[in-house]
Amino acid sequence: MNSFINNIEGIIKKAFETAGYNSEYGKVKISDRPDLCEFQCNGALSAAKEYHKAPFMIADDVVKVVTEGVNAECFEDIQSVKPGFINIKVSPSYLVEYLNSMNEDENLGIEKSATPDTIVIDYGGANVAKPLHVGHLRSAIIGESLKRILKYKGHNVVGDVHLGDWGLQIGLIITELHKRQPDLVYFDESYEGEYPEEAPFTMSDLEEIYPYANAYSKEHEDYKALAQTATQELQSGRRGYRAIWQHIIDVSVADLKVIYTKLNVSFDLWKKESDAQEYIPDMIHDMKEGGYAHIDQGALVVDVQEETDTQTIPPCMILKSNGATLYNTTDLATIVERRKLFNPNRIVYVVDKRQSLYFEQVFRCARKTKIIGDDVTLKFVGFGTMNGKDGKPFKTRDGGVLRLEKLIQEVEESVEEKMADRDMDEALIKETAKIIGLAAIKYGDLSNQASKDYVFDLDRFTSFEGNTGPYILYTAVRIKSLLRKAEELNILPADEKIVSTGNEAEKNVSLSIVKWTEAFEDAAENYAPHKICQYLYELSESFNGFYHDNKIVTNENEDERASWINLSKLCLKLIENGLDLLGLTIPEQM
Ligand code: ARG
Repeated sequence: MNSFINNIEGIIKKAFETAGYNSEYGKVKISDRPDLCEFQCNGALSAAKEYHKAPFMIADDVVKVVTEGVNAECFEDIQSVKPGFINIKVSPSYLVEYLNSMNEDENLGIEKSATPDTIVIDYGGANVAKPLHVGHLRSAIIGESLKRILKYKGHNVVGDVHLGDWGLQIGLIITELHKRQPDLVYFDESYEGEYPEEAPFTMSDLEEIYPYANAYSKEHEDYKALAQTATQELQSGRRGYRAIWQHIIDVSVADLKVIYTKLNVSFDLWKKESDAQEYIPDMIHDMKEGGYAHIDQGALVVDVQEETDTQTIPPCMILKSNGATLYNTTDLATIVERRKLFNPNRIVYVVDKRQSLYFEQVFRCARKTKIIGDDVTLKFVGFGTMNGKDGKPFKTRDGGVLRLEKLIQEVEESVEEKMADRDMDEALIKETAKIIGLAAIKYGDLSNQASKDYVFDLDRFTSFEGNTGPYILYTAVRIKSLLRKAEELNILPADEKIVSTGNEAEKNVSLSIVKWTEAFEDAAENYAPHKICQYLYELSESFNGFYHDNKIVTNENEDERASWINLSKLCLKLIENGLDLLGLTIPEQM
């Protein structure tokens, strides 16, 4: 379906044309002055120059065409206002017609893409052996929402967690494990048998070992060298080290699955950096063969600076002088792998914006070396930092990096406290607090433009009022309970028809509802879940205003009651759908 505003714009453009002006001047936008009108067109002001006429004369001509034309009944009021604005109020019946067609459409007016893309989304990006921390939270939350939005648009989307499993962290753990348990069979180079199935450590062991080894290596050069050697030996295939590495992956992935499930985040694919390694030799061969890569101070690099650059873009390093591969090498090889497995039209990376220069290098290098054709979009969705109230990257009260599980728990507890006076049994409060807590965290994140830093404010995010996740849930729960009541009273309407009753708050809700197509398309096109949040907040506000001012279930006018119940139901459908696109669910009560 066309968006509602596009439909109005169509009428106004046509009127410009009929009145003898270029239709391009007929652009319509939402009014800056909602006290005066709902929509406005300022085109007459710009047209004045071209036609050497006073703007209001042009606006007069256009308004005359509309009010005398076949579409006159679409408008409650359309006026030319000096110096040359066209102020528009749509007629309630025209508005309601659109509502009904949205309501009848199984996708609520959103058209599936006629030429669906295959899109790989790279998000999550957790590193095995290291606990997930708040830095990984944003990638998971934003990526999950983008995946849902693009799927809803009808694209063929593959969400890949792209685990970091190939770096120094593994070498550090091997080194520390060797120090602590030198007799483990994994360290016996002459051993040729099968390795034990059970890992010699648990996740909590790893959580202790990694930070310890990492800190120790910073103080002790020789220890660090051992870890580097271990990493290299792992990468070149030492059996015992590969077995330890596999244990680390198994233990970490099991742990990660639990936490991602808690976040209502899921992946179609659990690929790892190591999976791309097999593509590296051929890739490097082709880069050399094609004359793209050259040796610079012993290292193999590809220049990616372009003439039009105003800043220096350093070369993309493919191999270090000691022959080791890098993060870049893996990312390039992963593009090769993705092309082979999925042949995508787009690859989208949801990663901390501090990696933006890095990705610029990788993208340029991939194009220059023909790893990927110009027809494939490589999109970096860089996100900002989640800060504490002090404006610095979020830390716990004791100053440490907060573990994600701790954060979730803290939020849930805060919601539980707020709900303590509810007439609900304790288990239900706990369960409900989980749903609300997640909405607080995710909505708090997603309602900001992804590239911006934001402040994690526990009190604000968990508030049931204002632009928060819990407020949106509260609105949905309110509608659910209204519908339950209607069912109990046996007054649920037989059909879904909505009519206009001339009520002002009703029109307000309707005007909010019809913005959906635009909001969704904007979110999908610009990788911008915050557009969905904006929509949900505005819709919730106008619904609550309507609810406050009117009797719905207890309304004695049967036609009005039926239409309002249906209107409420449509709001619920839209909120449910929008929340689902954010990766959120709605409790039964709260
Ligand atoms: N593991 C990386 C990190 O923790 C993020 C991975 C992002 N994705 C990528 N293809 N490089 O910073």
